[in-house]
Amino acid sequence: MREIDEIKARLDIVEVVRRYVELRPVSGRWMGPCPFHQETKPSFSVNPEEGFYYCFGCQAAGDVIDFYMRVNGLDFREALEHLASEVGVTLQSTPASGATDETRQRRRRALEMHEAAQDFYRHCLGRATGEHARAYLQKRGLSAEVVNAFGVGVSPDSWNSLKNHLQSRGFSAEEALDAGLLAKSDKASRLYDRFRNRLMFPIQDMAGRIIAFGARLLEGEGPKYLNSSESEIYKKGEHLYGLSQARASMAKTRRALLTEGYVDVISMHQFGYADSCGVLGTALTSNQVRRLTGLAHTVDLVFDGDEAGRKAALRSAEMILTQGAACRVVELPEGEDVDSVLQNSGREGFEACLANASDGLTFCVQRLTSQASPKEILDWTAGFLKGLADESLRAYYIPRLADGFGLAEAELRRSAFQVVAKKTSRDVAPQPREAVGPRDEDDRAERAFLAFAICYPESIATFEKEGLDQVLASTWSQKLWDAMRRGNEAEILHELDEQSKRFWVRCRLEKTGCEDVGASTSEMCEILRRRLAERNKQKHQDELRRLEASGDASACRRLLESFTETLGRDDE
Ligand code: UTP
Ligand code: MN
Repeated sequence: MREIDEIKARLDIVEVVRRYVELRPVSGRWMGPCPFHQETKPSFSVNPEEGFYYCFGCQAAGDVIDFYMRVNGLDFREALEHLASEVGVTLQSTPASGATDETRQRRRRALEMHEAAQDFYRHCLGRATGEHARAYLQKRGLSAEVVNAFGVGVSPDSWNSLKNHLQSRGFSAEEALDAGLLAKSDKASRLYDRFRNRLMFPIQDMAGRIIAFGARLLEGEGPKYLNSSESEIYKKGEHLYGLSQARASMAKTRRALLTEGYVDVISMHQFGYADSCGVLGTALTSNQVRRLTGLAHTVDLVFDGDEAGRKAALRSAEMILTQGAACRVVELPEGEDVDSVLQNSGREGFEACLANASDGLTFCVQRLTSQASPKEILDWTAGFLKGLADESLRAYYIPRLADGFGLAEAELRRSAFQVVAKKTSRDVAPQPREAVGPRDEDDRAERAFLAFAICYPESIATFEKEGLDQVLASTWSQKLWDAMRRGNEAEILHELDEQSKRFWVRCRLEKTGCEDVGASTSEMCEILRRRLAERNKQKHQDELRRLEASGDASACRRLLESFTETLGRDDE
């Protein structure tokens, strides 16, 4: 697509990366500490000529859009939208996301409705109808400044006020129902305001758009919090409360403070902890962790000082650690949450808790050792190893787990390998392998052809004509080749899975000068033809054997004839 080319052409990858990473020039490249994994020596490299970044430590790789996506926890479309508006490119089509015009239209309307609802709720907080909410906020000790920064509002004690407001702004009640702002009565199928007489906390996506609400009961009966249900624009487990306000600070401190509650987040910001955000009433997901680890190295869990909070901390710590980020658990006094700690004892009180924070793995080990049975510990350990996002983390965690639980390292290693064996039996992109066999020879050949084509795209058309696709045996290589001959340079990276992408970028970065690409292409084609001929011969022989066995003499003869014909052609 033209637009991606245009956006990439107008962006300087070094300039964009430097907003997040301290880069230093090193012989034509730029190096710095990798923002995607924890490290002490800089192994993150940016190559402005090729327009890629690559980490020699964790192998994260990609172009400027990919970097922006990952570091901000955005999806491809969101990243593209941000960068497009930054460089003044207007996006016409929707690549990759596959959204139809209709769904795009619905999403746009839903966002507009949320914005209108937000205006409405905020407005209500300032009016007579918001008096008790204002008094409540004051009683909770929340300053006007943070209330404002987080856009807290109030929904009136009425069945129709938002409905009427939205209708006056040109939105139908049905649309508002789909967007999760109205509800429908079972019997009369009447549509009415979903949130009534509640403190309204707008939930934003990374781009700062309002996509949902959390609504706290002010008085009367009902659940303490009512949250938006899932909609076209809001998927549970994909967002974090306050992240949009916290991200800039997180990118600086490289730490994320993660709490359980809406009020907790707001209090944290009020007391100067601007790198705080909260889970939204669900268990922490890997998706959320990825959003955080793009910005921060360490996630500090600041969960409630009760059994539920400690349980959630255990699960969340496991999730964070297996994704390769560091994690600490900040334990709060029994019966308190961080809001109460801050309101009662100020920063000093919370700093004391922070100073006592335990390392995430230590917390898990201690909790399990004191509370779980040996069987549960073994299951947990196996689950932990299985959940590791990156195989290289196994080497890091096995000795630590063994040490923590008093288990034999060899035993852990064996169970980890069983897990890995299962994983790699699926068709995955190449990793350096030691074993040699016919299968690996195929792999090597595949990789050599693809690597050449990646470095010298002018060879792609020739390889295609010569039938390279016929010698690519594995799914990953076929997919990669497909993307290469279809795609243009700017887009290809975004069509590939993580491992193929690494392969692609690594080939480009390790590219050594080739004096005569044309001659090398011809040589490669020669090899390709030989391989194809061999395969053909093999196929014919197999077929012949099959026909012989079945006793079909005339079919045998026909096959032999065509076989000698092909051989003849090979000898030319
Ligand atoms: P808490 O009950 O700890 O509430 O739930 P809170 O945020 O500390 O609020 P205050 O300080 O008592 O007023 C923590 C979080 O769990 C989710 C919400 O996200 C809430 O902020 N939750 C809680 C729900 O989604 N539904 C509920 O009914 C209760
Ligand atoms: Mn709480």
